[in-house]
Amino acid sequence: MCGIFGAVSKSEIQGSLISGLSKLEYRGYDSAGISIITGRQKIKRVRCVGKVKNLKRILNSSRSSGFCGIAHTRWATHGQPILKNSHPHNSSKVSIVHNGIIENSDELKVYLKKKNYKFTSDTDSEVIAHLFSYYAERSSDGVEAMKRVAKKLNGSFAIAAICERWPDHLLAACNGSPLLIGTKKGSNFISSDIHALSETTDTYVPLQDNEIVELNSTDYKIYNFTGRKISRKQTKAKKQTSEINKNGYKHFMQKEIYEQQEIISNAIKHQIGKKGLLPNIFGPNSDKLLLKTKHIHFVACGTSYNAALIAKYWIEEITDIVCTAEIASEYRYRTVNVPPGTLFVAISQSGETADTIYSLKKAKNRNYCSILSICNVPESSITRLSDLVYLTHAGPEISVASTKAFTSQLIALLFMTMVLSRTSKNKTIEKTILKQVKALPAIIKKTFLLEKEIKKIAKNFKNKKHTLFLGRGVSYPIALEAALKLKEITYIHAEGYAAGELKHGPLALVDKNLPVIGLMPDNNLVNQVLSNLAEVRARQGLVYIFTNKKLSSSKTDKTNVINMPSCGHFVSPLVYVIPMQLLSYYVAIEKKTNIDQPRNLAKSVTVE
Ligand code: G6P
Repeated sequence: MCGIFGAVSKSEIQGSLISGLSKLEYRGYDSAGISIITGRQKIKRVRCVGKVKNLKRILNSSRSSGFCGIAHTRWATHGQPILKNSHPHNSSKVSIVHNGIIENSDELKVYLKKKNYKFTSDTDSEVIAHLFSYYAERSSDGVEAMKRVAKKLNGSFAIAAICERWPDHLLAACNGSPLLIGTKKGSNFISSDIHALSETTDTYVPLQDNEIVELNSTDYKIYNFTGRKISRKQTKAKKQTSEINKNGYKHFMQKEIYEQQEIISNAIKHQIGKKGLLPNIFGPNSDKLLLKTKHIHFVACGTSYNAALIAKYWIEEITDIVCTAEIASEYRYRTVNVPPGTLFVAISQSGETADTIYSLKKAKNRNYCSILSICNVPESSITRLSDLVYLTHAGPEISVASTKAFTSQLIALLFMTMVLSRTSKNKTIEKTILKQVKALPAIIKKTFLLEKEIKKIAKNFKNKKHTLFLGRGVSYPIALEAALKLKEITYIHAEGYAAGELKHGPLALVDKNLPVIGLMPDNNLVNQVLSNLAEVRARQGLVYIFTNKKLSSSKTDKTNVINMPSCGHFVSPLVYVIPMQLLSYYVAIEKKTNIDQPRNLAKSVTVE
């Protein structure tokens, strides 16, 4: 799972390769590398373990000059993150970069070894280099060679390749992993996403599955795998706003946590008018569609999946609509029943998560009444594939651990709940939610006042190995999200549980060393959560309760109570997640981990 960038130009390309690559680091940062065809028509490859900044350092002392080249940033799937497994991979006169997984790489290795090709890495990608080399020697042009390579490969791939035989040409192919062509006078580019092109051009052409492209500095030609030429119009990208800098914060994660108040205020400002929610905020005629909807299938991964779970609670509480929230990697492979009147909703910050893209493609071939995506990145793969799009406008989220993207998805889903509530017998419910939503920015501001207290509590977690988060109802997905945040950036093993499930297993883990965090907004489930926490206290567990309920001292004996500001029932997940994000952040500070780029993770998971 990786980022690919390539350029062919009338001018030197090293600078644009590096700038494109830096923007693709969210796809992985285990290693980085470039290959350029130099003036002497030879391939020069430079690779390093770790981030693009390490590659820059090497290139500062040994410049690679040339007009045609490829670049790669890696998230290791096959083979450890060490130099020999870093891309580009070379074979004789060719160099390639790959994103995806080659499922038949073992068979291809056997085939290529019989032809005397030597393997120097543990990757599945190296077979592509040798195959391309083999066919380049036996084909009249690069397209023919790439076509023959693509036909041999099973699995998902986006490939970019250069060959000394065709020094002015860049070749690329894709099937199941996104790839775009960027065009500009005197230069053409290939990139895993549009964001990486933003400093160079705003004109792009997305490739579709089973397509090959050949680029030189003045032209590009697209073919399908059978060799038929494809013509496709160029698209102008919308201007991206929001600067990417830390604005004085220590980490992007901290900045992004604090941006949430403004993002929510903006969503309210832009989507709510004098008479309430503006019409059709989910796309043309979306209100009519939503009001006819009988079932909703939410599909997402990671934090976005936790947002989907909350939407299910909200919508089923006030309408007759039947909702499912499902992890995309499960949805894509199982048999799914789609009753008439079902809406498919993909939720994704990046719009590039492979499992969510595959699920969406699967859904497009089923009888859903429409495919809606809730996404933060305009012109991403997911938005391009959807019938209807709601953009969350959270601005670029740089920290791998998602924070502001989550609350911006929640506010969108709460708006959706408001539209759907018009089908409910309770005619005042939309107004109730509206009132709670409008109060939200001020409540979030108050929640940030807990920062000092949370910072103190975080010290108690520094040496902990495990933590349990408990919640009921809409707070259960927040417990899942809190556990996910803690694991991601502090490497403490954490689990989120529905508080009622405690006695069905996790209670066995409780002893005097286990912190158990109860998320308890003041609602009809308070007594049940309190009973569950009493069970923890009885076994000497270290109980922390985040609540806006005033508790009598008998309930708080030997318990740390963190008093939350009051908030309405519907908005409580957006309020209660904030101290959880801050807690993980400050525990990570205590543990001195890499907060914005935790080990082994990537911002966007572009393989299954
Ligand atoms: C990765 C990120 C998570 C994110 C998940 C889904 O695992 O590290 O923060 O929630 O992907 O990403 P998406 O972009 O589809 O929301």
